Amino acid sequence: MSVRVGFIGAGGNAVWHMGFLKDIPDAQIVAVTDIAFEKAQAAAEKFGARAYASHKQMLDAEELDCCYISIPPHQHGEPEIDVIHRGLPFFVEKPLALNMALAEDILERVEKRKIGTCVGYQIRYVDVMDKAREMLKKTFVNAVNAHYVCGAIGGWYTRIALSGGQIVEQATHLVDLMRYIFGEIDWVMGTKRTGARVDSTTLDGTALGKGSISGAAAGLELHEYNIWDATTLLMQFRSGIPATFLCSCQVPYMWDVLLDIFATDFRLKITFSKMEILRKVDGQLKSEIVQGDETPKIDATFIEAVKTGDFSKIRSTYQDAVKTLRVTLAAVEAAREGAVVKL
Ligand SMILES: NC(=O)c1ccc[n+]([C@@H]2O[C@H](COP(=O)([O-])OP(=O)(O)OC[C@H]3O[C@@H](n4cnc5c(N)ncnc54)[C@H](O)[C@@H]3O)[C@@H](O)[C@H]2O)c1
Repeated sequence: MSVRVGFIGAGGNAVWHMGFLKDIPDAQIVAVTDIAFEKAQAAAEKFGARAYASHKQMLDAEELDCCYISIPPHQHGEPEIDVIHRGLPFFVEKPLALNMALAEDILERVEKRKIGTCVGYQIRYVDVMDKAREMLKKTFVNAVNAHYVCGAIGGWYTRIALSGGQIVEQATHLVDLMRYIFGEIDWVMGTKRTGARVDSTTLDGTALGKGSISGAAAGLELHEYNIWDATTLLMQFRSGIPATFLCSCQVPYMWDVLLDIFATDFRLKITFSKMEILRKVDGQLKSEIVQGDETPKIDATFIEAVKTGDFSKIRSTYQDAVKTLRVTLAAVEAAREGAVVKL
């Protein structure tokens, strides 16, 4: 049986997922919708699907098995509610929403209707994370230091009311990964930086490569940039592990992400695709690089779950991703108020 997929949103990230679905024999992209209709048309033509100008039209006209929802953070709400109303499983991109009230409302609906979900935290599926989790079970973690630095991408990303800013929209991947590896967070403190020089050399649409937001998206002008240039967080995990996390989206000359774990027996330096293990062997500090399999597995896992009705292999459900959203929103509050925010 082939799984009939409908897309809500046909931007950079949606088209990136469509590219993987095309190679999954059980998946068939049958319909694409975007409020910018020409984007729905272009994607539909490329992947042999039908285009719609609104998700309501698509849901009325098509017999779907599931939906992908890949829209800007400020647009969440109605698409999820309509998809849940139809009883369809869905894949939704992070961040789930820009406030807890909406995410919790959607979660309540998901649970009431027992809808299967998958949230786009694809880094959880990289095999390096399995190895790291296995190794860390057998040692004592003293402390964690992480950073996410890159250039600011254009479009809706640059407005805090539309994207939530770097922690909520982008660095959420590392917060989520930390939760996946170390468990829940007890409290967070934060500081922020504003006032960076923003012009066409410091703001572009290429910083994140494929799947990122285009500079022209949403028609925003450079001078409208109002997100924070940098945020630093101090976090306490319930297990007792302390973590520091530095984020900046005003480092236009590079994209650098690192999760640096200092355990008693070794140090792990994890990027999204590889891990360096540093430890003493015969009195000498040795480094071993473990290259992860970078092929995204999230789409195949989601399609298999829809096909079988068994969502147990999904590593980030709506229920779980709500907890990551709560941490990132608490981090923003902590940095804005200069306070400790308890979770
Ligand atoms: N998991 C990842 O690694 C990853 C990577 C990139 C982006 N994302 C996420 O994917 C989402 C989309 O990002 P993007 O880069 O594709 O942005 P984008 O601006 O390129 O595309 C978003 C598209 O959604 C459309 N849209 C807006 N509201 C809509 C609605 N109500 N119905 C239908 N279409 C609607 C817009 O017209 C636009 O074409 C964001 O939440 C972003 O954070 C995730």
